Amino acid sequence: MMRLLVTGGAGFIGSNLILDVLQHEPDVEVVNLDALTYAGALENLEPLPDTRRYRFVHGDICDRPLVEDVLRRYRIDTIVHLAAESHVDRSIHGPAAFVRTNIQGTFTLLEAARMVWLEEGRAPTEAVRFHHVSTDEVYGSLAPDEPAFHEATPYHPSSPYAASKAASDHLVRAFGQTYGLPVTLSNCSNNYGPRQFPEKLIPLLLLNAIEGNPLPIYGDGRQIRDWVYVTDHCLALRKILDSGRPGETYHVGGSNQPTNLEIALQLCQLLDERLPESPHRPHAGLLRHVPDRPGHDRRYAMDCGKIEGELDWRPLETLQSGLRRTVDWYLANPEWVATIRGRPAYQEWIARNYVGRGEPR
Ligand code: NAD
Ligand code: DAU
Repeated sequence: MMRLLVTGGAGFIGSNLILDVLQHEPDVEVVNLDALTYAGALENLEPLPDTRRYRFVHGDICDRPLVEDVLRRYRIDTIVHLAAESHVDRSIHGPAAFVRTNIQGTFTLLEAARMVWLEEGRAPTEAVRFHHVSTDEVYGSLAPDEPAFHEATPYHPSSPYAASKAASDHLVRAFGQTYGLPVTLSNCSNNYGPRQFPEKLIPLLLLNAIEGNPLPIYGDGRQIRDWVYVTDHCLALRKILDSGRPGETYHVGGSNQPTNLEIALQLCQLLDERLPESPHRPHAGLLRHVPDRPGHDRRYAMDCGKIEGELDWRPLETLQSGLRRTVDWYLANPEWVATIRGRPAYQEWIARNYVGRGEPR
């Protein structure tokens, strides 16, 4: 039996990972440690495929005694560390929380794992694993003709979010090198799919479009991202836990490079098809260019040859099939949408980021 601690398991990727693991990995018990910030919701974990193999701990990854207690009490042998402040725009408005959670929090988890696993020797070193989930944003921006990021590309983060993730990656590698903590890392591109908090581009555009509200496109909208469907990311994480080599980093991405405008237009087209009676058709008429994000990276692209070759991972969804699934999930889950968007924290954010940027909501 693997005893897996997922940090940030009430967030977007964490909840999808827990649902995926409980469904596909009968030999794994899961403990979810989450502070339930604005981005976390226990509704993301309903319904659970198996409640007997799942425990929730409401707590902060910066709380060292709590983290050590969780590691000992549940005899954790594997950590997948996802808890973070994850939104670039919020890191521009308020970077302090990113330094605290992403850097201090990761450091606290590493120290706790070192103490419980290595110092106290509660598990043989070869039986434990600390997997850190990171992002392609640590590499900064690519020029149009530059080759994709690979695992040895130097770090060049642009936003406070990216810089805090870069710092956490360095700490994880240092704990591997210095203390022999068995670590793996993955840097992933933009995820999308069910349960994504609607401050991020795809759910924000979708939900605004359904209601006939403007669709804010930063700058010229020609920024390029690589998009991976969230369950494909979860599959990659499960493969890394199963057979990733300690000390190694793996890239995960969808191997596509649409502009933000292309993503927006695809979403509008899908909604036009799904909602033939909507008074807001054609939804593309709702697109509005608004002032750009400061420090906005122009292009990301991921070389995923290593995980494909070593771990036989490939995304199962294309961008087209993944967007279709995503649109269908948001249309089929109005209660989830109402709960999440009804929270004051969400309304406050929308007012803060968009009003005055030229968008009334
Ligand atoms: P999210 O914002 O949806 O969820 C973050 C979760 O962490 C929330 O449940 C929140 O309550 C929890 N959390 C925040 N601070 C905490 C703290 N101090 N202690 C305990 N829990 C805390 O994030 P996400 O999009 O699911 O991303 C998860 C991870 O994956 C992050 O580390 C992010 O950097 C990384 N990542 C995300 C993407 C993406 O496109 N979403 C891509 C690559 C990497
Ligand atoms: O690349 C991986 C990263 O992807 C993750 O590490 C982050 O946690 C995750 O939030 C995501 O970051 P982005 O900044 O790329 O995601 P976001 O959805 O905020 O924006 C995607 C693109 O869309 C980006 O170029 C900015 C643009 N955008 C975003 C919003 C919210 C708009 O044009 N309008 C918007 O209103």
